Amino acid sequence: MTKTNTPIQIGTHTLKNRITFAPTVKFDFTDDSGMANEKLIAHYTERAKGGCGLICVEATAVTPGGRFGKNHMGLWNDEQIAGHKEITAGCHKYGAVVIIQLNHTGYTSNPECGPAIGPSAVTRQGFRGEYTTVEMSIDEIHAMQQSFVDAAVRAKKAGYDGVQFHGCHGYLINQFMSPAANFRRDAYGGSAENRARFCSEMIAKVRELCGPEFLISVRTSGCDSTLEDALAVAEEYVKAGCEYLQVSSGMSSLETVAPFRDSKVTDIQSIGAYFKDHFNGRVPVSCVGGLRTPEQIHYLIENEYVDTVDVAKAILADPEFANAVIDGTSYTKCFECQACQFGPFTAHKCPAEAKRLRSR
Ligand SMILES: Cc1cc2nc3c(=O)[nH]c(=O)nc-3n(C[C@H](O)[C@H](O)[C@H](O)COP(=O)(O)O)c2cc1C
Repeated sequence: MTKTNTPIQIGTHTLKNRITFAPTVKFDFTDDSGMANEKLIAHYTERAKGGCGLICVEATAVTPGGRFGKNHMGLWNDEQIAGHKEITAGCHKYGAVVIIQLNHTGYTSNPECGPAIGPSAVTRQGFRGEYTTVEMSIDEIHAMQQSFVDAAVRAKKAGYDGVQFHGCHGYLINQFMSPAANFRRDAYGGSAENRARFCSEMIAKVRELCGPEFLISVRTSGCDSTLEDALAVAEEYVKAGCEYLQVSSGMSSLETVAPFRDSKVTDIQSIGAYFKDHFNGRVPVSCVGGLRTPEQIHYLIENEYVDTVDVAKAILADPEFANAVIDGTSYTKCFECQACQFGPFTAHKCPAEAKRLRSR
């Protein structure tokens, strides 16, 4: 029995082990309807069967305008609940706790889906060229918060154990918390408390509407714009009722804020470890990034750098990866080809998964 295979309590839920499937959009699995379909149900069920203690279902749009593209899953209407019921049933069947990541892309929204909105008007270089974002009014902020809350209520109806607010990687919640994107002078900008407010108010509302057993997590940026600032924002999330922090990258450089060097721990993982030290058991903390082998995962968990790990590409490549980590069995390795990540722009197939399927 390794420490990786010991249970951990998060809120009122017990994860059977410390391995979580990180949220990872399957860019080409749904269509403009945003429905959770057979492919997505099978995808998540297979990964729960593969031993993950927690599955965090991919960034799911809370409005049709807040998507990466037209093939991005959503929970913006009640018709979308049915497919999610099957995802949650599939994951629960194999003993995984299952939450869903709620997102709006903000000023990185695909223009085919909606306008580039954000906390402040800024001119930016995106991969589609230069564009100017539209500053959200207070009424628009409140309407957007309502969309997140409505999606969380739908998530509960669909049987999810909780939700995760997508607060990193440069999307709307990250834009609000980051001094690099938020130049407001009202209650939603300025101090860390104010920059956290957009998400904190949603956390409190979801807690009120979904009850004490509904797990509320934030995947937060550990680097906007300093480690201390990112921690101050996360403190606000925890004060509002967040019970689980997954720490990832944001809009500022990771390297400049990485708190320590250990040849076995990457910059982004060390930021997660710093968060764990800071929160000191008040809420469990997870880290992510480059975890491809059982040894790396055991190292982080055994040394109590973090409480859980989020693993993306290794579990995309082989849904049985978590079982392999725990049982010491073999697995198909990620080929590091990035095809999964750049799926929306290329005809892609994960070669590792294809190899696994061929060898069945
Ligand atoms: C195909 C793909 C889709 C992703 N989608 C999301 C997402 O929906 N939400 C999110 O927070 N991160 C997303 N990420 C980032 C991953 O969760 C993870 O942080 C990143 O891949 C680093 O972890 P890894 O080295 O284990 O892959 C995605 C990554 C990939 C490769």
